[in-house]
Amino acid sequence: MGDTDKAGIGIFGAGWVGLVTGACFAELGHTVVIRDVVPERIESLRAGRVPIHEEGLEQLIERNRDRLSFTLGVGEVAARAELLFVCVGTPPTYSGDADLSAIWTVLDELPAETRATLVMKSTVPVGTGDKVRAALEARGLGHVGYVSNPEFLSEGRALRDFMQPDRVVIGAYAEPDALAVAALYDSLDTELVQTDVHSAEMIKLASNAFLATRISFINEIANVCEVTGADVEEVARGMGLDRRIGSHFLRAGIGYGGSCFPKDVSALKQLAGNSGYHFQLLNSVIEVNELQKRRVVGKLKKHLGHLAGRRVALLGLAYKAGTDDLREASSIVLAARLLAEGAEVVAWDPVARPRDELRGATLAATAREAVAGADAAVIVTEWPELRELVCEEVRAAMRTPLFVDGRNLLDPLAVRAAGFAYEGVGRPTSPFSALPETEEPEPRVRR
Ligand code: UGA
Repeated sequence: MGDTDKAGIGIFGAGWVGLVTGACFAELGHTVVIRDVVPERIESLRAGRVPIHEEGLEQLIERNRDRLSFTLGVGEVAARAELLFVCVGTPPTYSGDADLSAIWTVLDELPAETRATLVMKSTVPVGTGDKVRAALEARGLGHVGYVSNPEFLSEGRALRDFMQPDRVVIGAYAEPDALAVAALYDSLDTELVQTDVHSAEMIKLASNAFLATRISFINEIANVCEVTGADVEEVARGMGLDRRIGSHFLRAGIGYGGSCFPKDVSALKQLAGNSGYHFQLLNSVIEVNELQKRRVVGKLKKHLGHLAGRRVALLGLAYKAGTDDLREASSIVLAARLLAEGAEVVAWDPVARPRDELRGATLAATAREAVAGADAAVIVTEWPELRELVCEEVRAAMRTPLFVDGRNLLDPLAVRAAGFAYEGVGRPTSPFSALPETEEPEPRVRR
């Protein structure tokens, strides 16, 4: 493609959202040019190396090479594209608000002759569209249209989420802009929600906050199950069959993490607060999530007394299975808590490679190496291969055969039958010692 050719779509930001969005639009037949500010990133993408981990993305980019290009030049994107997608990061600031500086940089860099429409994919506070429009007008770019088109991609299944979305949300100030964006998704069989910009921005934040609320809710039900003898897995199954409730996001565990839920829940809480409304429920959602990560410590103490000098294997570090992402992962808080209690922490993950996040912990090359000589094995991420640890060889290799299963990955009966003590989340608990429940009591000697 020559430089003067029109690319239908321009994308600012070759991060996870930008690359998935760009590759999927190319797959749908659109011509896409992706721009990033990091030269090594662009070089590596041009050479066919994808700098992020997402199932199927590398192959999708390869397959659509002739419709996808990568550039450092903002002018090139603005000149060639009719729709300019903003896919830059909006991380939390110290106050919990969203940091929009990367968005302002994009606006500052837009050439004066830009004629395209801006489409916001990055997650932003309600009201951002208005601010962007004001900034555009101040720069003499008032003719540039603006559309909010939030993403609902989840890591590890992002390509499927893009190609088979539950809905596509489009919030616009002007009908023609909305129609231009809607046309991009024409070939997808999905529900289109065409609305105003404020509501589109809120749909994104409210969706993530609601899913996080469901998780904190089921985690609290799990905690009550533990003290009342119910089993949260059964409870979630029974609740989820009610169509008004549904079964998704009712998996109790060690708390939600990742680059979206913690940030977006906090951003919505701050947004409400800054607008004069105290969002009581979200405070609890956040607090429950923080406490949930720490409950493992109590379960370990129940079996081991104190943790000083105990060796604890942390199995799985990523915030969920299927990704190498460590952002806001429960493993980070848990490792720090265990180290503060004086425990020795040996951590393992099949793909996540911590740098500084787990300072003070030792990294093991395999799960078996992590559990050797350990006083407890804690399942933090639901990697399926961890099920293989329920065996005699591992039992014999551990100093204390104890599983604390933060994801309810294992079958409690099988684990106990294999000679381990077991603590799940919201499941009937183990007896007080690290001994299997199924073990026959010692025969009483008759006098
Ligand atoms: C989430 C949303 O699911 C996407 O729709 C959204 O687009 C994305 O954030 C975003 O805003 O970019 P993601 O963070 O990739 O996607 O991961 P999820 O699969 O939603 O899981 C988030 C966290 O919740 C993980 O730590 C997971 O282990 C936890 N979780 C999830 C539970 O503890 N229980 C559940 O039942 C479900």
